[in-house]
Amino acid sequence: MSVQYGAISWNRQKKVYDLILVSLIALYLGTFAGIGAWLNPSATAETLLIRGFGTAALLLLHIVLCIGPLCRLDRRFLPLLYNRRHLGVTTFLLGLVHGTFSLIQFHALGNINPLISLFVSNPRYSSVADFPFQSLGFFALVILFLMAATSHDFWLRNLTAPVWKRLHMLVYLAYALLVAHVALGALQSDTSPVLAGTLMVGVITVVFLHLAAARKERRLDRAKHRATEEGFVEVCNVNRIPEKCATIVSLSGERVAVFRYDARISAISNVCQHQNGPLGEGRIIDGCVTCPWHGYQYLPESGSAPPPFKEKIPTFRVKVVGDTVLVHPRPNPPGTFVEPAAVDQKEMQLR
Ligand code: HEM
Ligand code: FES
Repeated sequence: MSVQYGAISWNRQKKVYDLILVSLIALYLGTFAGIGAWLNPSATAETLLIRGFGTAALLLLHIVLCIGPLCRLDRRFLPLLYNRRHLGVTTFLLGLVHGTFSLIQFHALGNINPLISLFVSNPRYSSVADFPFQSLGFFALVILFLMAATSHDFWLRNLTAPVWKRLHMLVYLAYALLVAHVALGALQSDTSPVLAGTLMVGVITVVFLHLAAARKERRLDRAKHRATEEGFVEVCNVNRIPEKCATIVSLSGERVAVFRYDARISAISNVCQHQNGPLGEGRIIDGCVTCPWHGYQYLPESGSAPPPFKEKIPTFRVKVVGDTVLVHPRPNPPGTFVEPAAVDQKEMQLR
Protein backbone atom coordinates (compact mmCIF):
# COMPACT_ATOMS: atom_id res chain seq x y z
CA MET A 1 0.00 0.00 0.00
CA SER A 2 1.47 3.39 -0.91
CA VAL A 3 0.88 6.69 0.75
CA GLN A 4 -0.61 9.41 -1.45
CA TYR A 5 0.47 13.02 -1.02
CA GLY A 6 -2.46 15.43 -0.80
CA ALA A 7 -1.65 19.14 -1.26
CA ILE A 8 -2.53 21.47 1.60
CA SER A 9 -5.94 23.01 0.98
CA TRP A 10 -6.33 26.58 2.19
CA ASN A 11 -9.87 27.30 3.28
CA ARG A 12 -11.13 30.72 4.41
CA GLN A 13 -10.74 29.85 8.08
CA LYS A 14 -7.06 28.91 7.61
CA LYS A 15 -6.38 32.11 5.66
CA VAL A 16 -7.95 34.27 8.39
CA TYR A 17 -5.99 32.35 11.08
CA ASP A 18 -2.70 32.88 9.23
CA LEU A 19 -3.41 36.54 8.49
CA ILE A 20 -4.05 37.22 12.18
CA LEU A 21 -0.89 35.26 13.10
CA VAL A 22 1.36 37.15 10.65
CA SER A 23 -0.13 40.53 11.69
CA LEU A 24 0.42 39.82 15.40
CA ILE A 25 4.04 38.73 14.77
CA ALA A 26 4.72 41.86 12.68
CA LEU A 27 3.19 43.99 15.46
CA TYR A 28 5.34 42.22 18.08
CA LEU A 29 8.57 42.64 16.07
CA GLY A 30 7.83 46.31 15.32
CA THR A 31 7.02 47.06 18.99
CA PHE A 32 10.07 45.10 20.20
CA ALA A 33 12.43 46.95 17.83
CA GLY A 34 10.86 50.36 18.64
CA ILE A 35 11.01 49.96 22.43
CA GLY A 36 14.48 48.30 22.20
CA ALA A 37 15.90 51.22 20.16
CA TRP A 38 14.29 53.77 22.49
CA LEU A 39 15.58 52.13 25.70
CA ASN A 40 19.01 51.38 24.25
CA PRO A 41 19.86 53.84 21.45
CA SER A 42 23.31 52.23 20.93
CA ALA A 43 21.78 48.81 20.04
CA THR A 44 22.42 47.85 16.41
CA ALA A 45 19.66 46.78 14.02
CA GLU A 46 21.22 43.27 13.90
CA THR A 47 21.04 42.91 17.70
CA LEU A 48 17.42 44.08 17.76
CA LEU A 49 16.52 41.62 14.97
CA ILE A 50 18.29 38.70 16.69
CA ARG A 51 16.57 39.43 19.98
CA GLY A 52 13.19 40.22 18.43
CA PHE A 53 13.00 37.02 16.37
CA GLY A 54 14.41 34.87 19.22
CA THR A 55 11.90 36.11 21.81
CA ALA A 56 9.02 35.93 19.27
CA ALA A 57 9.90 32.26 18.55
CA LEU A 58 10.10 31.36 22.24
CA LEU A 59 6.85 33.20 23.02
CA LEU A 60 5.06 31.34 20.23
CA LEU A 61 6.45 28.02 21.49
CA HIS A 62 4.94 28.76 24.91
CA ILE A 63 1.56 29.40 23.24
CA VAL A 64 1.85 26.12 21.25
CA LEU A 65 2.62 24.18 24.44
CA CYS A 66 -0.23 25.78 26.41
CA ILE A 67 -2.98 25.22 23.81
CA GLY A 68 -3.19 21.42 24.37
CA PRO A 69 -3.79 21.50 28.15
CA LEU A 70 -6.00 24.60 27.88
CA CYS A 71 -8.34 22.72 25.50
CA ARG A 72 -8.47 19.78 27.91
CA LEU A 73 -9.46 22.15 30.70
CA ASP A 74 -11.92 24.33 28.76
CA ARG A 75 -13.55 23.61 25.37
CA ARG A 76 -13.68 27.32 24.50
CA PHE A 77 -9.98 27.15 23.54
CA LEU A 78 -10.63 24.52 20.83
CA PRO A 79 -10.62 27.01 17.87
CA LEU A 80 -6.95 27.74 18.68
CA LEU A 81 -6.08 24.07 18.41
CA TYR A 82 -7.54 23.69 14.93
CA ASN A 83 -4.47 25.14 13.16
CA ARG A 84 -1.87 24.57 15.88
CA ARG A 85 0.50 23.14 13.27
CA HIS A 86 0.72 26.55 11.60
CA LEU A 87 1.93 27.97 14.92
CA GLY A 88 4.57 25.21 15.13
CA VAL A 89 5.89 25.85 11.61
CA THR A 90 5.94 29.62 12.29
CA THR A 91 7.92 29.01 15.52
CA PHE A 92 10.54 27.14 13.47
CA LEU A 93 10.72 29.91 10.83
CA LEU A 94 11.16 32.64 13.48
CA GLY A 95 13.84 30.52 15.23
CA LEU A 96 15.55 29.96 11.86
CA VAL A 97 15.76 33.71 11.15
CA HIS A 98 17.13 34.30 14.68
CA GLY A 99 19.68 31.45 14.39
CA THR A 100 20.82 32.49 10.89
CA PHE A 101 21.30 36.15 11.91
CA SER A 102 23.23 34.97 15.00
CA LEU A 103 25.49 32.73 12.89
CA ILE A 104 26.21 35.63 10.50
CA GLN A 105 26.74 38.12 13.33
CA PHE A 106 28.93 35.97 15.60
CA HIS A 107 30.53 33.29 13.38
CA ALA A 108 30.75 34.45 9.75
CA LEU A 109 33.81 36.68 9.96
CA GLY A 110 36.38 34.00 10.91
CA ASN A 111 38.21 31.64 8.57
CA ILE A 112 36.24 28.53 9.53
CA ASN A 113 32.77 27.40 8.51
CA PRO A 114 30.21 29.29 10.72
CA LEU A 115 28.48 26.02 11.66
CA ILE A 116 31.78 24.51 12.85
CA SER A 117 32.69 27.78 14.58
CA LEU A 118 29.39 27.55 16.50
CA PHE A 119 30.65 24.39 18.23
CA VAL A 120 34.41 25.02 18.54
CA SER A 121 34.76 28.76 19.19
CA ASN A 122 33.77 28.39 22.85
CA PRO A 123 34.77 25.05 24.43
CA ARG A 124 33.94 26.08 28.05
CA TYR A 125 31.31 23.38 28.59
CA SER A 126 32.08 23.14 32.34
CA SER A 127 31.39 26.82 33.00
CA VAL A 128 27.93 28.16 33.87
CA ALA A 129 28.62 31.84 33.14
CA ASP A 130 30.45 31.14 29.85
CA PHE A 131 28.64 27.97 28.70
CA PRO A 132 28.45 27.66 24.86
CA PHE A 133 24.68 28.22 24.98
CA GLN A 134 24.37 28.72 21.21
CA SER A 135 24.84 24.97 20.58
CA LEU A 136 21.70 24.34 22.71
CA GLY A 137 19.75 26.72 20.45
CA PHE A 138 21.09 24.86 17.41
CA PHE A 139 19.88 21.43 18.65
CA ALA A 140 16.47 22.92 19.53
CA LEU A 141 16.28 24.36 16.01
CA VAL A 142 17.03 20.91 14.51
CA ILE A 143 14.09 19.42 16.49
CA LEU A 144 11.78 22.28 15.44
CA PHE A 145 12.84 21.69 11.83
CA LEU A 146 12.06 17.94 12.03
CA MET A 147 8.63 18.72 13.46
CA ALA A 148 7.85 21.44 10.90
CA ALA A 149 9.06 19.27 8.00
CA THR A 150 6.88 16.31 9.07
CA SER A 151 3.82 18.33 10.08
CA HIS A 152 1.84 17.50 6.92
CA ASP A 153 -0.61 14.55 7.16
CA PHE A 154 1.41 12.79 4.43
CA TRP A 155 4.15 12.19 7.02
CA LEU A 156 1.66 11.17 9.68
CA ARG A 157 0.43 8.35 7.40
CA ASN A 158 3.92 7.51 6.11
CA LEU A 159 5.66 7.32 9.49
CA THR A 160 2.57 5.80 11.23
CA ALA A 161 0.78 7.57 14.09
CA PRO A 162 2.88 6.18 17.01
CA VAL A 163 6.25 7.11 15.39
CA TRP A 164 4.91 10.55 14.38
CA LYS A 165 3.58 11.14 17.88
CA ARG A 166 6.92 10.15 19.46
CA LEU A 167 8.78 12.46 17.08
CA HIS A 168 6.49 15.35 17.95
CA MET A 169 6.86 14.74 21.70
CA LEU A 170 10.46 15.93 21.18
CA VAL A 171 8.96 19.43 21.38
CA TYR A 172 9.40 19.13 25.16
CA LEU A 173 13.13 18.42 24.71
CA ALA A 174 13.37 21.43 22.35
CA TYR A 175 11.61 23.55 24.98
CA ALA A 176 14.02 22.44 27.74
CA LEU A 177 17.02 23.14 25.45
CA LEU A 178 15.68 26.63 24.70
CA VAL A 179 15.06 27.48 28.36
CA ALA A 180 18.71 26.45 29.01
CA HIS A 181 19.82 28.40 25.87
CA VAL A 182 18.36 31.62 27.31
CA ALA A 183 19.23 30.93 30.98
CA LEU A 184 22.89 30.17 30.18
CA GLY A 185 23.13 32.79 27.42
CA ALA A 186 21.25 36.08 27.46
CA LEU A 187 20.39 35.89 31.18
CA GLN A 188 24.07 35.66 32.18
CA SER A 189 24.77 39.13 30.76
CA ASP A 190 21.32 40.75 31.04
CA THR A 191 21.08 43.19 33.94
CA SER A 192 17.31 43.85 33.51
CA PRO A 193 14.93 41.42 35.27
CA VAL A 194 12.36 41.56 32.40
CA LEU A 195 13.66 38.56 30.38
CA ALA A 196 14.34 36.44 33.51
CA GLY A 197 10.90 37.27 34.98
CA THR A 198 9.05 36.59 31.71
CA LEU A 199 10.86 33.28 31.22
CA MET A 200 10.03 32.20 34.78
CA VAL A 201 6.33 33.06 34.36
CA GLY A 202 6.35 31.15 31.04
CA VAL A 203 7.89 27.98 32.50
CA ILE A 204 5.56 28.04 35.53
CA THR A 205 2.49 28.50 33.25
CA VAL A 206 3.48 25.60 30.96
CA VAL A 207 4.17 23.25 33.90
CA PHE A 208 1.03 24.29 35.83
CA LEU A 209 -1.33 23.85 32.85
CA HIS A 210 0.10 20.40 32.04
CA LEU A 211 -0.28 19.26 35.66
CA ALA A 212 -3.87 20.60 35.88
CA ALA A 213 -4.87 18.84 32.63
CA ALA A 214 -3.22 15.57 33.75
CA ARG A 215 -5.09 15.77 37.09
CA LYS A 216 -8.42 16.19 35.29
CA GLU A 217 -7.73 13.18 33.03
CA ARG A 218 -6.59 11.02 35.97
CA ARG A 219 -9.85 11.75 37.79
CA LEU A 220 -11.77 10.56 34.71
CA ASP A 221 -9.72 7.36 34.48
CA ARG A 222 -10.17 6.53 38.16
CA ALA A 223 -13.98 6.95 38.27
CA LYS A 224 -15.59 3.63 39.27
CA HIS A 225 -18.55 2.18 37.31
CA ARG A 226 -20.99 -0.48 38.55
CA ALA A 227 -21.06 -3.69 36.42
CA THR A 228 -24.26 -5.71 35.71
CA GLU A 229 -24.55 -9.51 35.19
CA GLU A 230 -24.11 -9.43 31.39
CA GLY A 231 -20.87 -7.46 31.72
CA PHE A 232 -22.45 -4.10 30.84
CA VAL A 233 -21.30 -1.17 32.97
CA GLU A 234 -23.48 1.69 34.23
CA VAL A 235 -22.13 4.90 32.73
CA CYS A 236 -24.52 7.77 33.55
CA ASN A 237 -28.05 9.10 33.41
CA VAL A 238 -29.27 9.80 29.84
CA ASN A 239 -29.97 13.43 30.79
CA ARG A 240 -26.30 13.98 31.61
CA ILE A 241 -25.42 13.73 27.90
CA PRO A 242 -26.31 16.93 25.99
CA GLU A 243 -28.01 16.40 22.60
CA LYS A 244 -25.48 15.75 19.77
CA CYS A 245 -22.65 15.65 22.34
CA ALA A 246 -20.97 12.96 24.42
CA THR A 247 -19.84 12.02 27.86
CA ILE A 248 -16.39 10.40 28.14
CA VAL A 249 -15.85 7.39 30.41
CA SER A 250 -12.84 5.22 31.05
CA LEU A 251 -13.75 1.51 30.85
CA SER A 252 -11.08 -1.18 31.43
CA GLY A 253 -8.38 1.43 30.75
CA GLU A 254 -9.91 2.53 27.42
CA ARG A 255 -11.59 5.93 26.94
CA VAL A 256 -15.05 5.64 25.42
CA ALA A 257 -17.19 8.50 24.00
CA VAL A 258 -20.92 7.90 24.57
CA PHE A 259 -22.98 10.08 22.21
CA ARG A 260 -26.68 11.05 22.41
CA TYR A 261 -28.41 12.11 19.21
CA ASP A 262 -31.99 12.01 17.86
CA ALA A 263 -33.24 9.92 20.83
CA ARG A 264 -30.45 7.35 20.35
CA ILE A 265 -27.23 6.44 22.15
CA SER A 266 -24.02 5.09 20.54
CA ALA A 267 -20.57 4.48 22.00
CA ILE A 268 -17.27 4.66 20.12
CA SER A 269 -13.59 4.89 21.05
CA ASN A 270 -12.66 8.37 22.24
CA VAL A 271 -9.42 8.28 20.23
CA CYS A 272 -9.40 9.86 16.74
CA GLN A 273 -7.44 7.97 14.07
CA HIS A 274 -5.82 11.17 12.87
CA GLN A 275 -3.75 12.44 15.82
CA ASN A 276 -5.49 10.85 18.81
CA GLY A 277 -7.85 13.83 19.28
CA PRO A 278 -10.60 13.40 21.95
CA LEU A 279 -13.72 12.56 19.89
CA GLY A 280 -15.97 12.82 22.96
CA GLU A 281 -15.16 16.53 23.11
CA GLY A 282 -16.52 16.95 19.58
CA ARG A 283 -20.12 17.14 18.36
CA ILE A 284 -22.38 15.34 15.91
CA ILE A 285 -22.52 17.42 12.72
CA ASP A 286 -24.50 16.21 9.68
CA GLY A 287 -25.00 12.83 11.37
CA CYS A 288 -21.26 12.29 11.99
CA VAL A 289 -19.16 12.53 15.14
CA THR A 290 -16.77 15.38 14.26
CA CYS A 291 -13.34 15.48 15.89
CA PRO A 292 -12.77 18.81 17.67
CA TRP A 293 -9.11 18.98 16.62
CA HIS A 294 -9.12 18.90 12.80
CA GLY A 295 -12.62 17.79 11.85
CA TYR A 296 -12.22 14.08 10.92
CA GLN A 297 -15.67 12.45 10.92
CA TYR A 298 -17.07 9.04 11.97
CA LEU A 299 -20.56 7.53 11.91
CA PRO A 300 -21.61 7.05 15.55
CA GLU A 301 -23.20 3.62 14.98
CA SER A 302 -20.26 2.02 13.09
CA GLY A 303 -17.16 4.09 13.93
CA SER A 304 -16.40 4.29 10.18
CA ALA A 305 -15.56 7.52 8.40
CA PRO A 306 -18.19 8.41 5.76
CA PRO A 307 -17.13 7.45 2.18
CA PRO A 308 -14.74 8.08 0.46
CA PHE A 309 -12.70 8.17 3.69
CA LYS A 310 -11.39 4.91 5.17
CA GLU A 311 -10.66 5.57 8.86
CA LYS A 312 -12.31 3.17 11.33
CA ILE A 313 -12.41 3.18 15.13
CA PRO A 314 -13.76 0.58 17.63
CA THR A 315 -17.41 0.67 18.70
CA PHE A 316 -19.02 -0.55 21.95
CA ARG A 317 -22.36 -2.25 22.68
CA VAL A 318 -24.87 0.01 24.47
CA LYS A 319 -28.17 -0.34 26.36
CA VAL A 320 -30.55 2.11 27.99
CA VAL A 321 -32.45 0.76 31.00
CA GLY A 322 -34.97 3.31 32.33
CA ASP A 323 -32.89 6.46 32.20
CA THR A 324 -29.52 4.77 32.75
CA VAL A 325 -26.97 4.31 29.95
CA LEU A 326 -24.99 1.05 30.05
CA VAL A 327 -21.94 0.26 27.90
CA HIS A 328 -20.12 -3.07 27.42
CA PRO A 329 -16.42 -2.39 28.09
CA ARG A 330 -15.15 -4.88 25.45
CA PRO A 331 -14.36 -2.95 22.22
CA ASN A 332 -15.68 -4.31 18.90
CA PRO A 333 -13.24 -4.43 15.97
CA PRO A 334 -12.91 -1.00 14.29
CA GLY A 335 -15.85 -0.24 11.98
CA THR A 336 -18.29 -2.79 13.53
CA PHE A 337 -21.93 -1.66 13.25
CA VAL A 338 -23.78 -1.58 16.60
CA GLU A 339 -27.51 -0.88 16.75
CA PRO A 340 -27.91 2.41 18.72
CA ALA A 341 -29.88 2.14 21.98
CA ALA A 342 -33.23 3.96 21.87
CA VAL A 343 -34.01 6.62 24.45
CA ASP A 344 -37.66 6.63 25.56
CA GLN A 345 -38.47 10.32 25.08
CA LYS A 346 -41.86 10.08 26.83
CA GLU A 347 -40.34 8.52 29.92
CA MET A 348 -37.66 11.23 29.93
CA GLN A 349 -40.32 13.96 29.82
CA LEU A 350 -42.22 12.38 32.75
CA ARG A 351 -39.16 12.50 35.03
C1 HEM B 1 21.47 27.99 15.38
C2 HEM B 1 20.64 28.24 16.37
C3 HEM B 1 20.77 29.42 17.32
C4 HEM B 1 21.81 30.29 17.55
C5 HEM B 1 23.18 30.30 16.90
C6 HEM B 1 21.37 31.22 18.55
C7 HEM B 1 22.14 32.25 19.06
C8 HEM B 1 21.74 33.14 20.03
C9 HEM B 1 22.54 34.23 20.53
C10 HEM B 1 23.94 34.58 20.06
C11 HEM B 1 21.81 34.85 21.49
C12 HEM B 1 22.24 36.04 22.33
C13 HEM B 1 21.72 37.30 21.65
C14 HEM B 1 21.99 38.52 22.51
O1 HEM B 1 21.90 38.43 23.73
O2 HEM B 1 22.24 39.56 21.90
C15 HEM B 1 20.55 34.19 21.60
C16 HEM B 1 19.53 34.56 22.46
C17 HEM B 1 18.26 34.02 22.40
N1 HEM B 1 17.82 32.97 21.63
FE1 HEM B 1 18.97 31.95 20.28
N2 HEM B 1 20.10 30.92 18.91
C18 HEM B 1 19.67 29.83 18.18
C19 HEM B 1 18.43 29.24 18.21
C20 HEM B 1 17.34 29.72 18.93
C21 HEM B 1 16.00 29.22 18.79
C22 HEM B 1 15.56 28.07 17.88
C23 HEM B 1 15.21 29.99 19.65
C24 HEM B 1 13.73 29.92 19.91
C25 HEM B 1 12.86 29.13 19.31
C26 HEM B 1 16.08 30.93 20.30
C27 HEM B 1 15.65 31.85 21.25
C28 HEM B 1 16.47 32.79 21.84
C29 HEM B 1 16.02 33.76 22.82
C30 HEM B 1 14.58 33.91 23.36
C31 HEM B 1 17.13 34.53 23.18
C32 HEM B 1 17.17 35.69 24.17
C33 HEM B 1 16.93 36.97 23.41
C34 HEM B 1 17.46 38.20 24.14
O3 HEM B 1 18.68 38.38 24.18
O4 HEM B 1 16.64 39.00 24.64
N3 HEM B 1 17.36 30.73 19.84
N4 HEM B 1 20.52 33.15 20.69
S1 FES C 1 -7.00 14.44 15.78
FE1 FES C 1 -7.02 15.50 13.90
S2 FES C 1 -9.05 15.22 13.29
FE2 FES C 1 -8.99 14.15 15.08
